[in-house]
Amino acid sequence: MAVETEVPLTGGRITPGVVRVGDTVRRAVTAAPSFVAQLLGHLQEQGFTGAPRHLGTDRAGRDVLTYLPGWVPPRFRTWADCQVAAAGALLRGLHDATRGSLLAGDHPVVCHGDPGPNNIVFSSEGDAVPVALIDFDTAAPGDPVTDIAYMAWTFCVSSKPTTPPTAVQAAQVRVLTDAYGLDAASRTHLPDAMLERQAHNARCWSSHLDRPRPRVTDDHQITERIRWSEREHAHTAANHHVSRQPCADYDDLPPRSHKLLNYQPEERHPMGPTIDRPAPQVTATHLRTLLDSSAEHPVLYISYGEDSEVELDVWAAGLVHQADIVLTRATALDLLGEEPDSETITAFLPTVQQAVDEMISVRGL
Ligand SMILES: Nc1ncnc2c1ncn2[C@@H]1O[C@H](COP(=O)(O)OP(=O)(O)OP(=O)(O)O)[C@@H](O)[C@H]1O
Ligand SMILES: [Mg+2]
Repeated sequence: MAVETEVPLTGGRITPGVVRVGDTVRRAVTAAPSFVAQLLGHLQEQGFTGAPRHLGTDRAGRDVLTYLPGWVPPRFRTWADCQVAAAGALLRGLHDATRGSLLAGDHPVVCHGDPGPNNIVFSSEGDAVPVALIDFDTAAPGDPVTDIAYMAWTFCVSSKPTTPPTAVQAAQVRVLTDAYGLDAASRTHLPDAMLERQAHNARCWSSHLDRPRPRVTDDHQITERIRWSEREHAHTAANHHVSRQPCADYDDLPPRSHKLLNYQPEERHPMGPTIDRPAPQVTATHLRTLLDSSAEHPVLYISYGEDSEVELDVWAAGLVHQADIVLTRATALDLLGEEPDSETITAFLPTVQQAVDEMISVRGL
């Protein structure tokens, strides 16, 4: 039997002995091996191509993953807008593939937990854009904004004097959130989420100093990483306009929107379906469900089924694309009053139906 050559894969800071063997990667099992295996299996089932496949474990007990060709940057640096945008779209793909799954539990999605450039495979041709996420060791159910906050920090923001001015950093944070399609509510949470993540990073590296030797690296390096995280935190806190940029001029969602429709024709669904589909019909039940929903900011939105169905549904703003929203409860209350009777609701249905028909026709369904 031919001996398989093990080629060391450097670039990581935590997991020792990551190697390439042929078209596979061998990696010591993670703290939560079964969750990662299930997650990668789920992503495969969902047709998400931006992650390695989990192929099992080898005789040495290591995880066997598909090797993803490309380039993984070992260090943080500045990126072109197209690279930042592709990173945002990739992260959105991961979140969409896990949204509402059993793995996400009570949380909106499964977060990657560490979606920095060092855990992303970039294509080795063309624009060298992000094509896949690797290293799912810290993946866990969570809120998408925590992943976006980390990505915004590690791709777009830096305290180093040699990096672009904060106005440029702010513009790139906006590129990222727009490419991701971040909803209005999460945009307002982004500044705190970034600060929290930077503080978490400092705490996490500090905890390494309490662990027995040998540690992941020498104490000097660990101390440097703690100091760097603290500098990044101070930079982000002192330059609030950077993390607030995604909110600037953004057409805000509830609480008090006075527009009937939140839909903007230029905000087309990024992967809108192209086959012919009938427009769903708005009923009094839809409006009642919207008005009675226990969600904080419920919205009536157009939901696209996998193959054919286009339906209307009520969910919380922030969990759906803003471009899919037909009507918010805040707007419905403004127009119908606090406790509308069934006559008022019935009289309002054609207006909402017109909005739905327009959305469907603008998208060329
Ligand atoms: N599936 C894969 N396809 C291609 N390259 C990979 C793959 N998995 C890992 N690598 C390579 O191996 C290196 C180390 O892997 P990994 O990121 O899993 O290590 P780590 O020490 O856990 O990382 P971190 O420092 O982010 O915690 C990566 O930088 C990358 O170059
Ligand atoms: Mg890594």
